[in-house]
Amino acid sequence: MTDSTGRDDPATPDDSDPAAVMAANWRDDVGYTSPNPTTYPWQWLWDSCFHVLIWAELGRQDRALRELDSVFDFQRPNGFVPHINFTPQPTAALQPWGITGSSTITQPPMHAHAAAALSRRGVDVPDHVTARIGQSLEHLWLSRRHRNGLLTCLHPWEIADDSPRWDDWGPRPFDRFGTWRARKFELVTSLVLDDQDAAISNPEFEVQSAAFNALVAFNLGEYAWLTGLDRWEERARTLAADLDDCWDAAARTWVDQSDDAVAGQSSRVRTLDALLPLLVTERDDVDGLWDDLSDPDRYGAEYGPCGVRRDEPTFDPDGYWRGAAWPQLHYLLSLAARRHGHEDLAVDLQATTRAIATSADHPEYWNPITGDGLGAAPQSWAALWIAMPGGAP
Ligand code: GLC
Repeated sequence: MTDSTGRDDPATPDDSDPAAVMAANWRDDVGYTSPNPTTYPWQWLWDSCFHVLIWAELGRQDRALRELDSVFDFQRPNGFVPHINFTPQPTAALQPWGITGSSTITQPPMHAHAAAALSRRGVDVPDHVTARIGQSLEHLWLSRRHRNGLLTCLHPWEIADDSPRWDDWGPRPFDRFGTWRARKFELVTSLVLDDQDAAISNPEFEVQSAAFNALVAFNLGEYAWLTGLDRWEERARTLAADLDDCWDAAARTWVDQSDDAVAGQSSRVRTLDALLPLLVTERDDVDGLWDDLSDPDRYGAEYGPCGVRRDEPTFDPDGYWRGAAWPQLHYLLSLAARRHGHEDLAVDLQATTRAIATSADHPEYWNPITGDGLGAAPQSWAALWIAMPGGAP
C-alpha cells in the first residue's frame, strides 16, 4: 500500500526493522528510496546504489532494479551522473545549483558495484542500465583525470562533506554551521560547468581524494567483472597503482593530492575513508592497518572504527565526517576485509552496524565510543547491515 506521496504505509512502522525502514522511505511515484524523508527527501547517487543492495537482500529485486535505473534519470548525454536527483520537485534544485532537476557535481559511482552485486545474485541487469554505467565511468575517466593519474573531486560534497581533510580550503577554526557551511555554498558558485551543466573544474577546490579514487577504481573493477571487458580492468589497475603511490608509510594512510600550494596540509589527516584504497590496493606493506582499525589508540572503539583516527587533533566522535562512524564505510571496509582474508573483522563490522541500527532507529551515523545515534533517523543506508558478510536478519 502507498500513500499520496508514493510512500509505503506500513501498518506497524518499526525503526528497528530494516524492511520497515526501507518501506517507509521508498517513493513509488519516482522509483527511489529517500535517504530520510525529512532531512534528505530527494535521491542521492551513492545512497541509492547502497539501497539497491538492501532491496536485493530483502528479496525486492523489482525495487532494486527500479532504484538502479532511476540513478540515471538526469544522466547527461556525455555520461555525467549528478549526485542529487530532485524529482518530483525539479525547481528545488535551483538553489544552489542554478538549474532544475539535478545538481551539477557527482558522488562515487557505486552503481557498478550495485549492478555487479545484482548480477552475482542471478538478477539480470538490463542492457540499457549496463550501458549507462559504462557511460558514467567513461565520462569520469575522461573529464576528471589529473596528470598524476588520479581523478579530481571538485567539491567537498562529492565524497566526505565536512572531512578535516578539507580544512585547508575553509576558514579556521572549523565552524560547521557558520563559516564552513557558507564556504561550501561559495564553492558551488566557483564550479565551472560544461555545456551540459556538469562540473568540469573548480579554481577554488580541486583535490584528488584517496577515498573517491579508491571507490572509482573499485567500481571500474566491478564493471570489468560485469562486462568481461579487459579495458575496464586495465583502467582499474592503473588507477589503483597511481593511488598506491599516495601511500604514506609513516602516517599509515593514503594521502589526498592537490596542486594547491596554500592548501594541502590537511590532506594527510588520518580519516577512515582514506583507508578505502584497501578495496583495491596491491601493496604488501599495509597489513598493519587491520590492527589499527581495532586499536583504541588509533581507530578502534566499542562501536567503531572511528571516522577519524583518535590521535588526530580534529577527532570528534560526534562530528559529522569528523570522527563519527558511518554504515556505508563499515560496509565498504567489510568488503575490503574479506578481500584480504580478514573474515572475522568483516563479521565484527556487520555485528556492530547491526547492533547500532536495530537499537538506535537506523541512524545516519553514530558516536563510535558511546553508540549514540546521530544525524537523520531512520536513514535508509543504515539498513546496509543486512547486506554485509554474515548479514541477513
Ligand atoms: C550527507 C552525506 C552524503 C550523503 C547524503 C544523503 O550529505 O554527507 O554522503 O549522500 O547525506 O544521505
